[in-house]
Amino acid sequence: MTTTTTAPHWAARFSARMSRVRASEIRELLKLLDQPDILSFAGGIPDPGLFPAERIQAGYDAILADPELSAQALQYSVSEGYLPLRQWIVERMARAGVACAPENIMVTAGSQQALDLLGKLFLGPGDTVMVARPTYLGALQAFNAYEPAYLDLPDGALAEGVDGEALMTGRAPQPLGYFVPDYANPTGRSLTHAEREALLDLAGEIDMTLIEDAAYRDLRFSGEAAASLLALDIARSGHIDQARTVYCGTLSKTVAPALRIGWVCGPRPVIEKLVLLKQGSDLHVSTVNQMVAHRAVAEGYEQHLGALSGAYGGKARAMLEALERHMPDGVTWSRPEGGMFVWVTLPEGMDGAALLERALAEEKIAFVPGGPFFAEVPAANALRLSYSLPTDGEIEDGMGRLGRLLRRVMG
Ligand SMILES: Cc1ncc(COP(=O)(O)O)c(C=O)c1O
Repeated sequence: MTTTTTAPHWAARFSARMSRVRASEIRELLKLLDQPDILSFAGGIPDPGLFPAERIQAGYDAILADPELSAQALQYSVSEGYLPLRQWIVERMARAGVACAPENIMVTAGSQQALDLLGKLFLGPGDTVMVARPTYLGALQAFNAYEPAYLDLPDGALAEGVDGEALMTGRAPQPLGYFVPDYANPTGRSLTHAEREALLDLAGEIDMTLIEDAAYRDLRFSGEAAASLLALDIARSGHIDQARTVYCGTLSKTVAPALRIGWVCGPRPVIEKLVLLKQGSDLHVSTVNQMVAHRAVAEGYEQHLGALSGAYGGKARAMLEALERHMPDGVTWSRPEGGMFVWVTLPEGMDGAALLERALAEEKIAFVPGGPFFAEVPAANALRLSYSLPTDGEIEDGMGRLGRLLRRVMG
């Protein structure tokens, strides 16, 4: 008997949910932008000059040189995470106004894994996910595999007041809400205190579970820190175990993303189920990385955050001033008080993706067009700029080039 050697038709074999899992335009684009002659504002990754490399090296050295510590660091460990790190996270959460115990914390492989596991925990096909408009593309990618239906809230809707019942008509009940309340990716904007309270009111009205993605919360360079959604929720519900909000934190933006250290802080019943999902997914976060991360943050973390806010705040100021100097009338932009991003809105009818093509060809600059950040109908006339990597001089040069291009395009 002969056997056939035709390659399997993979697309027909993938599960139904894979129809929702597609390559991210941005990540595909970023590969192309990695050319030395392009001045890029697309990235949105931390400035490697700010990595505490010496502390990280000292951590690995000390741990691996000690037989007892290295035996622990190189071994399997519990899915909940390294206890001293969870205890440190409990202290950090207290600073954000959240009283909790290590049992309310699970360490994750970056906050991206937390989003995936939360999607797995809460979403089935057709379930409702409420997001901001625009929102973090990586969250949409994580949730898409669980086949939800999105409901996106226009900018300003929370401030104006939302009719929850009308919003939910014809939708699966008990929605999951995903928000980045502080210095959001991609807009750099934060929810005001009143908007946070309005979001919690809405969540109560429509029985919504809330995910608070606090990825950029510690990168504040001006203004006051706003109360976290989870803290406001606990103030209403009386205890974290009665709250409806699950908080996702990360050391990626403040220490180093390659350590892959994030966490979920939330009600115990949620954490208990997440631990089971994590066991089935990857058992635990690298033990040695958790131990090194703990050493890196255990002392002097506030001082380190101060240095980061000085650096990113300076770059943000440089970008805002350069935009002021170079943008033509009709172009507007957000004014972040933290994080890594400025969101630029172009006149109606313009297209960020088409502009990018010309920007690359004519001015050798790159940014991310706004479209992919929308869960439902994209607004094409927007783009995301990041100031985290370029120098002040490059920012001035790049915004000059962008302004010149826009003047040509807008006539
Ligand atoms: C809003 C937001 N959430 C989560 C993440 C994921 O980061 P990590 O998995 O490194 O913690 C990012 C990364 O860009 C982000 O911008």
